[in-house]
Amino acid sequence: WVLNNKSIKASQPIGVFDSGLGGLTILKALQKKLPNEQFVYYGDTAHLPYGDKSEEALISYVQAIAHFLKSKDCKILVVACNSATTVINKAPDLPYTSEDIIEVISPIVNLIATQQKYTNIGIIGTRKTISSGMFNEALALQNGNLQITARATPLLVPLIEDGFLEENVLFPVFDRYFKGFQNCQLLIPACTHYPIIYQQIESYFDNRLKVLHTPKIIAESVEAVLEQKGLLSTTKNKEDDYHLSDVTDEFLREAELFLGKKVHFN
Ligand code: DGL
Repeated sequence: WVLNNKSIKASQPIGVFDSGLGGLTILKALQKKLPNEQFVYYGDTAHLPYGDKSEEALISYVQAIAHFLKSKDCKILVVACNSATTVINKAPDLPYTSEDIIEVISPIVNLIATQQKYTNIGIIGTRKTISSGMFNEALALQNGNLQITARATPLLVPLIEDGFLEENVLFPVFDRYFKGFQNCQLLIPACTHYPIIYQQIESYFDNRLKVLHTPKIIAESVEAVLEQKGLLSTTKNKEDDYHLSDVTDEFLREAELFLGKKVHFN
């Protein structure tokens, strides 16, 4: 262990992956927070959407991607997908230990469970994330005083991916999905695609409900882990490296929407 740990250097890149392009919302926050780090991004567009896949399939995808990012010399692994997070602890063959993996559920659960401000919390995510109970059960376990409303909102990912971002398209969908959320003070968007429509959600609730800005929180926990390990890079030596398992014109257009700039995908 000691040898293995010693051989890891701060100058190595950070591996980030998602089922597709949603993880770019996390990557964007990471690039802003940690400008001296190099990132390798992997979007598994060939297997999208993860939210409707079996556990066995997800485990095999996650393992293959973790090995790919290890082969790219990544020092830590950021699981920028809630659906993939639901299986990460069940994958038997990962080239990273749990200390070297930062996922998108635990940092949010820990933050919300310990805060006092919000008592009535809503959670939305893919079928996989909501049915796993990882968010709602972990939250309820840590803080029994929280009133939690959780719902799978599977239509939102394809709508976002196809660029249906207008309120007149989204609001009728929200009418169905947000029944029972009227008393929520805070909404946890437990899917990395959702930051694209935060404003539309807040506007739907006339700004009476706050949508938690999850990418910023994840970027802060990545920084804290690197700091604690003494692995924060001080200079950026190489450009970020972007990979997709299936490259189409649609995915490239979408990537621009998520990142706010054009990048080259391998
Ligand atoms: N971005 C993924 C997540 O955070 C959802 C997209 C998918 O279903 O592949 O869960």
